[in-house]
Amino acid sequence: MAKATSVWECQNCGSQFPKWAGKCPDCGQWNSLVETLPSADALSFVSSIPVSEVKPRDWHEFKSQSANIYLPTGISELDRVLGGGLVKGGVILIAGEPGIGKSTLLSQLALKTDNVLYINGEESSLQVAARFRRLKSGSNQKVVLFPQTNVEAVISFVPKTPGLSLLIVDSIQVMFSVRLRSAAGSIGQIRQAAGRLIEIAKNKDIPTIMVGHFTKEGEVAGPKVLEHMVDTVLVMEGDRSGNLRILRSLKNRFGPVDEVGIFSMDDGGMREVKNPAELLVGDLAAKAPGSVLGCVLEGQRPLVLEIQALAVPTKLSFPRRVGQGISERRLQLLCAVIEKHLGLGIGEKDVFVNIAGGLKTSDPGLDLPVVAAIISSAFQKTQKTLNAGKSEKSENRKTGTSGVPNLRLSDTSGSLSFPSVPIFCGEVGLLGEVRMVPGWPRREKEVGRLGLGKLVGKPDIGHIGQLQKFL
Ligand code: TYD
Ligand code: MG
Repeated sequence: MAKATSVWECQNCGSQFPKWAGKCPDCGQWNSLVETLPSADALSFVSSIPVSEVKPRDWHEFKSQSANIYLPTGISELDRVLGGGLVKGGVILIAGEPGIGKSTLLSQLALKTDNVLYINGEESSLQVAARFRRLKSGSNQKVVLFPQTNVEAVISFVPKTPGLSLLIVDSIQVMFSVRLRSAAGSIGQIRQAAGRLIEIAKNKDIPTIMVGHFTKEGEVAGPKVLEHMVDTVLVMEGDRSGNLRILRSLKNRFGPVDEVGIFSMDDGGMREVKNPAELLVGDLAAKAPGSVLGCVLEGQRPLVLEIQALAVPTKLSFPRRVGQGISERRLQLLCAVIEKHLGLGIGEKDVFVNIAGGLKTSDPGLDLPVVAAIISSAFQKTQKTLNAGKSEKSENRKTGTSGVPNLRLSDTSGSLSFPSVPIFCGEVGLLGEVRMVPGWPRREKEVGRLGLGKLVGKPDIGHIGQLQKFL
C-alpha cells in the first residue's frame, strides 16, 4: 500500500490538520474536517496532464465536432433524459434508493454498447454475469467486468483497454484511493475517487456513468461537491413495491433538466414505457366512488393518472390525512379548503389519498383531481361521463357491473378507448378558487391523444363548489 500522506481539511475555514477531530480547532465548526491530499500533492495530481499539452485554442477548431455531441444509447427513454444520448468525456451520476434498478438499467445499457468497462465494485463478476444472462439480451457486445474498488487500479487499467465506448462505475461509494487513510464511502474518499475518474474520462473522452447511493434523507450520498463535479445528475425514483420507475435529471450540462424517462421494472429488466397511462390508470379508474382521473406535468411530460381517495368517519380527535404520492401538507390544506368552502364534514373524517402506480408528484395541477376524489369518496359518487348520450352509442363502450364504463387499454395504438370522462387539472387556492396551471395546451394534447375525455380545469370550473357538475 502506498504511504498515506493525507491531511484533514476544514470545509468551513480551509485549515489543514494532520489528524481528524470532531470540531475544527481553528474556526470551531463541528464535523467539518474531511480527508484530502495536501495542497502540493493535490496540485501534482491535477497537473498529471503535461502542461505542454494544454493550449488555448480558437473555438472554431471544435465547431464541426460540436455539431452533434450525442451518442444515442439505444434506450430512448434514457436518451430523452440525457438530451440525446451519452457525450464523449461526459460524466453522469445516477443515484437512487437501493434495489430501485440502477444496476439493472446500466447492465441493459452495457449490453447494448460495444467495448464497455464495467467496474463492479459492489457485486462479484458472477453476480453481474448472472444479471446479464437474466436480461436475456442476445447481445455479443464486448463488456469487460472488473471487480475492483481501488481507484488507482481502475485508472491504470483504463489505458489498457483502448477504444472504450463506456465506463460504468457501480458504485462510486465503494471506490477508495490508497492515498487517503479514511474508509471507503467517506466524503474525502468519494471526492478523491470521483475526481480521478472524472479526470480520466475527460482526458480520454470516455463517456462515464457512476452509480451513487441515496442517504436516508433522500439526497445523493457523499459530498455535495460530487454533484458539482459531474456533468449530469440523474435520479431514479419509484415505489419499490410497484413497477413504475422514473428517471429524472437534476442537473445536465448537455441537455434539459425537465425531462423524465419512464420505465417499468419487469422480469426482463427495465422496460421503456411509451404510454405511461397503462401503469398510472388502474382497472377501476373513474368507475368507483373515490377514483378520478387527473393530469399532471412531470418535467415537460403530461401524464394522465388515477387518483384514489377514501374518506371515512374518524375515531380520533384529530382526523388523519394520509397521502401517498402527494405531500401531506398539501393534502391537509386541501382538506381544510373543502371543509371551509363545501362543509362536507371532512373535519370528522379520516382522508387517505393515493396516486396509482406509485408516482410522486408536486405538480400544482394535482390539487383539483385530489379535491374531486375526496368529494367523490365522501359522497359515494362516481365521475359523470361527459356527453353520455353520444358515448352510449359508441361501439367501444364496455359497461362494468356498476353501470359505469370500464377503461380499456388498447395494446396497439397505446390509446384508451373510453367514453368521455372529465380529466381534472388545476391548482386550488385557499378561497376554493381554481387556478390555471402551466402547460395547459400540452396537457390537452395528451388527453386528446389518449382519447379519454376532456381536460377540466380553470376554463370550466372557477370554484371547487362547481365540481359536483362532474361527479
Ligand atoms: P438493482 O438494479 O440491483 O438495484 P440497484 O442497483 O438500484 O440497487 O435491482 C434490484 C431489484 O430489481 C431486485 O429487487 C430485483 C429486481 N429485478 C427485476 O425485477 N427484474 C430484473 O430483470 C432484474 C435484473 C432485477
Ligand atoms: Mg446496484
